[in-house]
Amino acid sequence: MTITANWSYPTAIKFGAGRIKELADHCKAVGMKKPLLVTDRGLSTMAITQNALDILEAAGLGRAMFAEVDPNPTDRNLEAGVKAFKAGGHDGVVAFGGGSGLDLGKAVAFMAGQTRPVWDFEDIGDWWTRANSDGIAPIVAVPTTAGTGSEVGRASVITNSETHTKKVIFHPKFLPSVTICDPELTVGMPKVITAGTGMDAFAHCLEAYSSPFYHPMSQGIALEGMRLVKEYLPRAYKEGTDIEARANMMSAAAMGAVAFQKGLGAIHSLSHPVGAIYNTHHGMTNAVVMPPVLAFNRPAIEAKIASAAAYLGIAGGFDGFFDYVLRLREEVGVPDKLSALGVGTDRIDEMAAMAIVDPTAGGNPVELTLDAAKRLFIECI
Ligand SMILES: NC(=O)c1ccc[n+]([C@@H]2O[C@H](COP(=O)([O-])OP(=O)(O)OC[C@H]3O[C@@H](n4cnc5c(N)ncnc54)[C@H](O)[C@@H]3O)[C@@H](O)[C@H]2O)c1
Ligand SMILES: [Fe+2]
Repeated sequence: MTITANWSYPTAIKFGAGRIKELADHCKAVGMKKPLLVTDRGLSTMAITQNALDILEAAGLGRAMFAEVDPNPTDRNLEAGVKAFKAGGHDGVVAFGGGSGLDLGKAVAFMAGQTRPVWDFEDIGDWWTRANSDGIAPIVAVPTTAGTGSEVGRASVITNSETHTKKVIFHPKFLPSVTICDPELTVGMPKVITAGTGMDAFAHCLEAYSSPFYHPMSQGIALEGMRLVKEYLPRAYKEGTDIEARANMMSAAAMGAVAFQKGLGAIHSLSHPVGAIYNTHHGMTNAVVMPPVLAFNRPAIEAKIASAAAYLGIAGGFDGFFDYVLRLREEVGVPDKLSALGVGTDRIDEMAAMAIVDPTAGGNPVELTLDAAKRLFIECI
């Protein structure tokens, strides 16, 4: 058998409490003179964001911010962001925030140099080669949640506001030049966001680990990522100022995202339509649908999950792992059903049709048919 694959783990990560103070230096090092800090509305007035702007300003880089960014950011947010970038004469983006701020910031830096519409760069085949890669502005990423791992990813998830679908926009240069992982920035997350984002990191590791593709590097990273979540998410949830727990969750988040180069699966395929239609939190949605998807995939992953359980110190093979996931959810306050997040049963057919064509569906170890997706939605809601 000939084994071939394309792997990529190139982000420069500056990891450590307090390292946000290096922000201006890293911006300058990648050639920025007038960066635009892109974040979401909620973060725009918070002290961590104002402090980042202070650091830029003190270094002579101005204090420009674009914050018209929704959770589950849209093409409209993107258009407005590109406009602000051009109008302000900016030369780089500080993508600052959770997945929403990071994804939109990365997309602004990318689209600032393009003439074609954003949907032409969806993550399909080699569509990314359509881009004018010289026009892409440099990106410095600063995560303030520990979940999506967008800070080390080569894609952004943008919601199409007309069709209410989440699309993955991909280009290798979406990859930030530098990422600052400062766990102190995540201390102020509300409990529900700590839980949801932490479960997103776990979902990335679990789905990457379970996907059938050949990627042993990601396989190892996914396994250790799950271990970090197991050890540190309950601690970070209970005691938000536990910097050691926050730091390890930040690692787990970045690891989940490099691991999911190996593929994601039906947890994300179900979660994406729910998020796009009901605007639920991405990670929390993943956490709710996780057990039914695990059970659905059992025939294909039973032995693999038993190995993971052994590594994680969980007795009882697949069943033990399944029970552990239920306990973890309970421990961090994840509801059992999607109805608790405001999801109704009236759009199941539509969501199932969206789930099976979601780009993540191809990585699920058991084929996600329309019928299976409907049954899973009924169970999850
Ligand atoms: N690019 C990727 O690979 C990838 C992967 C998974 C998810 N995503 C996307 O990421 C988004 C979700 O990101 P998220 O889960 O990080 O949530 P988020 O970015 O939407 O943030 C959730 C809320 O938490 C607030 N918040 C963020 N950091 C905070 C802090 N330190 N203190 C206080 N409040 C804070 C925000 O203002 C917001 O109200 C979704 O749009 C999802 O589709 C992207
Ligand atoms: Fe995710």
